[in-house]
Amino acid sequence: MGNLLIIGAGGHGKVVADIARDSGRWEEIAFLDDNYPDSIILGLWKVRGKTEESKRFLKQFPEALVAIGANAVRLATIRRLTAEGFQVPTLIHPDASVSRLSVIGAGSVICAQSAIKIDTTIGMGAIINAGATIAHDCTLADGVHISPGGRISGDVQIGECTWLGSGAIIKEQVTIGHHVIIGAGSVVIRDVPDGVKVVGIPGRIIPQTSPNPPTSAPDLTIEIGRACNTTALVTQ
Ligand SMILES: CC(C)(COP(=O)(O)OP(=O)(O)OC[C@H]1O[C@@H](n2cnc3c(N)ncnc32)[C@H](O)[C@@H]1OP(=O)(O)O)[C@@H](O)C(=O)NCCC(=O)NCCS
Repeated sequence: MGNLLIIGAGGHGKVVADIARDSGRWEEIAFLDDNYPDSIILGLWKVRGKTEESKRFLKQFPEALVAIGANAVRLATIRRLTAEGFQVPTLIHPDASVSRLSVIGAGSVICAQSAIKIDTTIGMGAIINAGATIAHDCTLADGVHISPGGRISGDVQIGECTWLGSGAIIKEQVTIGHHVIIGAGSVVIRDVPDGVKVVGIPGRIIPQTSPNPPTSAPDLTIEIGRACNTTALVTQ
């Protein structure tokens, strides 16, 4: 059994560590966090250094997951870790229901009580949060976050680094662009272009006070082996 490094010691970091511990796949789990040495993780795990120090830990922790909430930063960090030589696993909670005929990318985290149906593809570094459901034939690009209780109907396309707030619902066959924010509880019934914020029922685009965060993350275009079949990766 190897050791796992988790980048980001906030709330999502704790969730990721909890799933990783339940999986029984790793002997030791530790964190890196930019607030080190002030970062505090409740419970069992130590913060060992700052995010930028990752390379120093490669030998002891050959596998790494990124638990940073900001979608573009999470994605760029996964690409950097991969370039440094880390293996980036896929983490699926034992209580998630994931079709063996779906594909989940490296570094994606599938939380408890979520469901992913047949012929759906999820890219690298996605978060499918607790209780979210993704129906059949959907494509979610790299860095997408579906917050708790999100409902994605069949045949939906979601672009890179798009974030759905808690309980948002997407009608079937809708296409949502890159770097979009969908408000909590909103219902999206029409296609959505890149970079906008949508709220309400039915969803309407609201004016931007600033660009959707965090589009300014470093653009690291390193090729990695991105998709991996879930059959080999389910943690149960
Ligand atoms: C969509 C969201 C990001 C907007 O935040 P914001 O840019 O700060 O927008 P504001 O709060 O200034 O609201 C702007 C307008 O949109 C409305 N609005 C904001 N969020 C809304 C929502 N979820 N549903 C319906 N209307 C919403 C506001 O009432 C306001 O309307 P008004 O101009 O008529 O008064 C935020 O409200 C939201 O829903 N975040 C999701 C949180 C979440 O699910 N977190 C899960 C973490 S795991």
